[in-house]
Amino acid sequence: MTHSVRAVLVDSTVPERLVIRKVEAPIALPNQAIVQVAAISLNRGEVRCSQQAAAGWRPGWDFAGTIVQAAIDGSGFPIGTRIVGFLPEGAWAEQVAVPTHAIAALPYTVDFKSAATLPVAGLTALLALERGGSLLDRSVLITGASGGVGYFACQLAAQAGAIVTAQVRRPELVEFVKTAKADRVIVGDEFDRYSPYNLVLESVGGEVLPAVLKSLAPDGVCIMFGATAGSDITFNASQFYSKGGLSLYGFILFHELKKQPASVGLARLVKLVANGSLAPHIDLEAPWSEIAQVARQLTDRQFPGKAVLHIQP
Ligand SMILES: NC(=O)c1ccc[n+]([C@@H]2O[C@H](COP(=O)([O-])OP(=O)(O)OC[C@H]3O[C@@H](n4cnc5c(N)ncnc54)[C@H](OP(=O)(O)O)[C@@H]3O)[C@@H](O)[C@H]2O)c1
Repeated sequence: MTHSVRAVLVDSTVPERLVIRKVEAPIALPNQAIVQVAAISLNRGEVRCSQQAAAGWRPGWDFAGTIVQAAIDGSGFPIGTRIVGFLPEGAWAEQVAVPTHAIAALPYTVDFKSAATLPVAGLTALLALERGGSLLDRSVLITGASGGVGYFACQLAAQAGAIVTAQVRRPELVEFVKTAKADRVIVGDEFDRYSPYNLVLESVGGEVLPAVLKSLAPDGVCIMFGATAGSDITFNASQFYSKGGLSLYGFILFHELKKQPASVGLARLVKLVANGSLAPHIDLEAPWSEIAQVARQLTDRQFPGKAVLHIQP
């Protein structure tokens, strides 16, 4: 008889449509390791998907834990290795099967809860910034800087030598984003204050995208990866093309990871956390039995940092 493990799945009859149920234990393909998951983190995107998905769908992108069965093709790490990993779905479970190209090993100085914050938010920040090329002495604007991606992006851009401007919508979050090494902070739509920008990481959308496009320097690049405030957007096209050399890049992590496996970026992020150059900000920690309440708090924007849930044995 196949043994079972517990996993989060969508059930349209329960609050927030998320529930923990028994499912069949994962079976690994040759290039997959089985991981006993210790901590998971929540992203707005997967919570949003859960609200629309069919019953039985298993959400979850970010996880950290220990390898309990190594990949039989010899790739990856041996049993007992502590790892962080990314899955396109189904990571919120006691055990997962994960391709070895989507995990990175953790040194003992990096705990599971910090590691669990890295996959989607950290990889998005890292790979989006890399679209801008060398950041040394470049002026970089991060919108939605108090968010999961924004908070990592400010730190990574500063680490890469950029002059970092963080945009927040609430004055009470100014001090928070300064802890992410932002050189300057703007509240609301004061983009002109520190323009022009060579690179913008934009995830707010709505009125914010047209405003930041106007504040780009010639040859400036705007990487758009979200539209939290709305995705039906009008902008002045002639102002955009007449500035000279501007680019607007549509970024979706799943596409970027086809070009470079998650293991590469995760290993870099883990190294930065280990040496103290990158610090996740965890605002909420809870047992995973509270998944529905935490998803609700995330949707209601009740906390600015990351939420991490611990998987109890
Ligand atoms: N394309 C991809 O591959 C990819 C990957 C990761 C994330 N995303 C998307 O990117 C966005 C950011 O992700 P995240 O995980 O950082 O989300 P998050 O933690 O929810 O952060 C959202 C940020 O946007 C700000 N914000 C929300 N509504 C706003 C508004 N109406 N005007 C101005 N600012 C507003 C928030 O400010 P407050 O703190 O004041 O609420 C917060 O700073 C989300 O839409 C997410 O779905 C896309």
